[in-house]
Amino acid sequence: MNKSVSALIVAAGRGTRAGTGLPKQYRPLNGVPMLARTLRALMAHSAVENVQVVIHPDDMPLYSAAVADISGLLPPVFGGDTRSGSVLNGLEALKADAPDIVLIHDAARPFLSLEIIDNLLAALKTHAGAFPALPVVDALWQGHDGSAEIPHSREGLFRAQTPQAFYFKDILAAHHSATEPADDDVALARSQGLSVAIVQGSESNYKLTTAADFARATKETQMDIRTGNGFDVHAFTEGDRVTLCGIELPHSHSLLGHSDADVAMHTITDALFGALAEGDIGQWFPPSEAEWKGAASDIFLLKAVERVAARGFVISNIDCTIICESPKIGPHTVPMRAEIARITGIDVDRVSVKATTSEKLGFTGRKEGIAAMATATLVKL
Ligand code: CTP
Ligand code: MG
Repeated sequence: MNKSVSALIVAAGRGTRAGTGLPKQYRPLNGVPMLARTLRALMAHSAVENVQVVIHPDDMPLYSAAVADISGLLPPVFGGDTRSGSVLNGLEALKADAPDIVLIHDAARPFLSLEIIDNLLAALKTHAGAFPALPVVDALWQGHDGSAEIPHSREGLFRAQTPQAFYFKDILAAHHSATEPADDDVALARSQGLSVAIVQGSESNYKLTTAADFARATKETQMDIRTGNGFDVHAFTEGDRVTLCGIELPHSHSLLGHSDADVAMHTITDALFGALAEGDIGQWFPPSEAEWKGAASDIFLLKAVERVAARGFVISNIDCTIICESPKIGPHTVPMRAEIARITGIDVDRVSVKATTSEKLGFTGRKEGIAAMATATLVKL
């Protein structure tokens, strides 16, 4: 039978090292309070059944606002003066559920991964407890009054993270037996002689402690992905070649247009302007202006690429579909993709050019012209 797993989140601290402002667990990281991010990350694991949050008595309104969109939480309980005291209050509250296993986690670590939880639960098959940790990589010095005094070996030393996983009854008993607060629950478990496994931690699972950590986390949570589409049509006229995605193909007709009438490159350009919500090719290069007559369309595409960079985005991918009965596009997609990749400065495996007929239906079916459509995705780094 599967063991039941509850999570206990300690969020009763004051965040004094993080500087002034809201208590750190309620500060938004790109609009989402840190506590809400931490809870979502834990609750994403299918094994986690009940979630008990421990809060500071002054924080009830902040807590209610932060978890307004999150359902399935146990009512919060108040914490103590120390982290250990807060954990104990949470464990006492969880007695009603009597889970087999409890994951004790800092509200201040919103970037935990499901993989860490998997590894912790696996380690509990052979140990009474388990926690993620990373080996110390720097030289260690004991200092005094700003001067180095005694070197310490880093051999065998680890930096502890949370969640820390235990059998519920064991860790509750360890807390009851403790005579003084400890920095974490592994310390209490070890003081009772429990075996505690070290599983692989992650640099991403850092604890937000200082203002610098908040600056880092704000940057890391920035996600701005935009998609734009483009569509264009050019009619055939007398001539002997067409230009599509910057590649000239011999043909029985040419395309009519103010510039070189590269219908495919125009749609890609429009997809980029669309993703930026910066109008379209006609607004940037009015057909009424003589200087664009016969112009090579890469000027237009380059302008859109310049705007993408100016707005702080990169192009993630471009997908273009050309709709015509002839010329045959398939044999030319390799140089077309290469040319779009060259102009936009992205890898060719991020550029797709494909074609379809319209089954002899409509204006493309009657070979009156060529239509094209494109999608582009932009990402802000
Ligand atoms: N914590 C708690 N009760 C306490 C102290 C800490 O529940 N009496 C929680 C914090 O809310 C945090 C976690 O324990 O989620 C780790 O503690 P820490 O990073 O030290 O947070 P704070 O104590 O809030 O910060 P500081 O030490 O800078 O004041
Ligand atoms: Mg603290």
